Parts: sequence; C-alpha cells; structure tokens
Amino acid sequence: MNVFTSKTELAKFLDQERIKDKNIGFVPTMGALHQGHLSLIQESKKRTSLTVCSIYVNPTQFNVQSDLKNYPRNTAKDIELLDAENCDVCFLPSTNEIYPNGVAKLLNIDLGGLDKRMEGKHRPGHFDGVVTVVNNLFKIINPDIAFFGEKDFQQLAVIRKMTQVLNINVEITGCPIIRDPGGLAMSSRNEMLTDQEWLAAPFIHNTLLEAKDLNGTIQEKIDLVIKQFENHALFTLDYFDIASERTLKPSIEESSEAQRAFIAAFIGNIRLIDNIALNN
Ligand code: PAJ
Repeated sequence: MNVFTSKTELAKFLDQERIKDKNIGFVPTMGALHQGHLSLIQESKKRTSLTVCSIYVNPTQFNVQSDLKNYPRNTAKDIELLDAENCDVCFLPSTNEIYPNGVAKLLNIDLGGLDKRMEGKHRPGHFDGVVTVVNNLFKIINPDIAFFGEKDFQQLAVIRKMTQVLNINVEITGCPIIRDPGGLAMSSRNEMLTDQEWLAAPFIHNTLLEAKDLNGTIQEKIDLVIKQFENHALFTLDYFDIASERTLKPSIEESSEAQRAFIAAFIGNIRLIDNIALNN
C-alpha cells in the first residue's frame, strides 16, 4: 500500500494512475478502523480499480473539545488493517495539508435544511466541519466514486446534497450498517466503552427493533423509545426521530415514502448513534 502525507505527492500519484485508465474509489475516515470501515474498502475494491482511504481526525466537526481529545487514534494498526484489505493508497494528511488557510474558514452552503435536524441540531456546527473536510478531500483526490456508511445516514444525505450544490462530479454510494453479533452498530467510539457499557450497548439497536416492530402510530413508537430509555440505568436518550429518508423531516404519520428511525444516546460520556429503515 502506498502511504502519503503530502497532498501534492498524492495528487501527482493519482494523476499518473488515471492515465492508466484507473477509476478511483475513495473512503474518507477518521481512523480507529473497524469492520464497518473495512466494508466500505471492500465495496470500493469491487467497484473501482484503485482505492484510496484517508485517515484524518477532523477538528472542525467536533463541537465538544473533550470528544476530539479522547477520540481513539491508532494509525499503525489502521495501516495494517488497510494493507490486509489490499487497499491501494492510505492518505494521512496533517491539518496544514487539509486547512492551508486555517480551520476557522468553513464552507458555507445551503444544504436545504438537511444539516439542521438531528445531528445538526444536537451538535451545532458539526456538518459545517464535515462538508468542509470532505470537499477539501474531494478536491485533492478527485474520486470517481466515494463510499459512505448508512451508520451516519444524515451525513450521507448531507454529502449527496453538497455534491449537487457544488456540482462535484462524483458518485456517492451508501453502504449498509455493519453490526457486532449482539447488534451494536460498529463505531470507533465503541473502543471507549467499559466492559459493562459494551455489554449493555446492544440496547440501542434492540430498542430500534422494538419501535420498528410495534404495531402502532409514529407517536406510539416515539413514546415507547422514550419510556425504554427512562427506565434504563446506563443510557440517556439524546434524541429519537422518525423521519423521511429523502428530506429527513420528521414524519407525522406513516406514509408510502421511505421512513427511518434515528437515535442518539449517551452511555456515560460516550455518545452513540444508530438508525433503522422502517418501511423499506
Ligand atoms: P468515521 O466515523 O471514521 O466513518 C467513516 C465512514 O465509515 C463513514 O462513511 C461512516 O458512515 C462509515 N461507518 C462507520 N461505522 C460504520 C458501520 N458500523 N457500518 C458501516 N459504515 C460505517 O464519518 C466520518 O468518519 C467523518 O465524518 C468523515 C466522513 C471521515 C469526515 O471527517
């Protein structure tokens, strides 16, 4: 695997590969890689002839400084995992490479409200940081296809919208959520859970399944989830929303449009998110 820290060197390498008719797949990550990330690499390997994975813990998308400080980092192991997947390129940029004009200047575009609900509402400024870093990475890598997980369903919707608004010529592919055997959605943040918390954590997915299976109205599903969390000793609910997959606007009643349940919850100081398709 080729490892680059310089964007100029990376761009030069990719230009040479493009001449050989390679199409480029891109998987942006913040590292502490797990099977969820690796599933995106595998999809890129299937769909493209050269896969680039970036690892960069993006400071501008963290709204809580302690979260940024505690975010797990393990580059040596990440490189081993990428190598084992036969990933072609790993990009490990510094903040100077990604933000040559400093981190204060963020992209300011109209995302049609997709960035204002759920994660956007509960983590102010989060998506400004996400779209800025992904746009900067796209400018360096110029991928044909970029792969994002449905684990961060709202992020996927926001990135799709960003590529439309900025007219970026890239296909955005969404990939399914990869879960632990107990149902917990894989996440780099899971590394920070204590054994007791980790054993309890499948509660999030189980509650989503209960809401999905409840034969009732949307309000009844919401009430059920709120009650389950009120009764749980370790978890605090941050939000539970049932929304349209297309607009992410809260659904008032069941409809033929694809709807999804979205959840964010704290266990100790650790915030986990998950989601589930309801009617598709
Ligand atoms: P990160 O949390 O490292 O995730 C990188 C990619 O892996 C995202 O597209 C995310 O949705 C996907 N992913 C994470 N866990 C997954 C799982 N259990 N199943 C399937 N896919 C999963 O998301 C980010 O980083 C950042 O916001 C980033 C896009 C890199 C911008 O900084």
